[in-house]
Amino acid sequence: MKFFVDTADTAAIAELNDLGMVDGVTTNPSLILKSGRDILEVTREICGIVSGPVSAEVVALEADAMIAEGRKLAAIAPNIAVKLPLTWDGLKACKVLSSEGFMVNVTLCFSVNQALLAAKAGASLISPFIGRLDDINIDGMELIQDIRTVYDNYDFTTEILAASIRTVNHVAEAARIGADVMTAPPEVIRKLAAHPLTDQGLQTFLKDWEKTGQKIL
Ligand code: E4P
Repeated sequence: MKFFVDTADTAAIAELNDLGMVDGVTTNPSLILKSGRDILEVTREICGIVSGPVSAEVVALEADAMIAEGRKLAAIAPNIAVKLPLTWDGLKACKVLSSEGFMVNVTLCFSVNQALLAAKAGASLISPFIGRLDDINIDGMELIQDIRTVYDNYDFTTEILAASIRTVNHVAEAARIGADVMTAPPEVIRKLAAHPLTDQGLQTFLKDWEKTGQKIL
């Protein structure tokens, strides 16, 4: 499973990237707002840190304007994935930009039919939002499973990017189902390493080690 980081915080991206935990990055207008930085400038900096796909989202609503914004964002670096919303105009823009050879991440996907349309429009990535479905009492993971089944039924090459991941269990479950990629905030990725039995075991080992009176260095 590929790991994308869902943030525009360049320090966090660099730290995780040094650990080999970053296969790509996703941003959105809310994350750009949180960063307090100019979208073109911060996206360029992220593309300099990470070699995998960096999603940058358009904000236009009409296809021609989305295409123009997408081309401008894609000109930042070769590893930009233009992020387009799953609307009819977004699908039109997806068809055009993917035919021009740009990576496209179709975002805000909440149904298997939407995912089917994105694949047919040539999306490189589809982003079903797990957490936001869970928020309204719909099982987000069921959607990941349904998209996996449908894409496999027809050999679609669009990658499933499990998005809106809020918990470590979301990561494990998406991996079990076979999502190609997951994108999560840096703090969720860090939490993947945590286990109380690891901490407890380490404490016991260190106490016993102290009793040996030995030193390694
Ligand atoms: C994905 O590309 C989105 O940026 C992100 O996962 C949305 O997550 P949220 O629902 O926690 O805002």
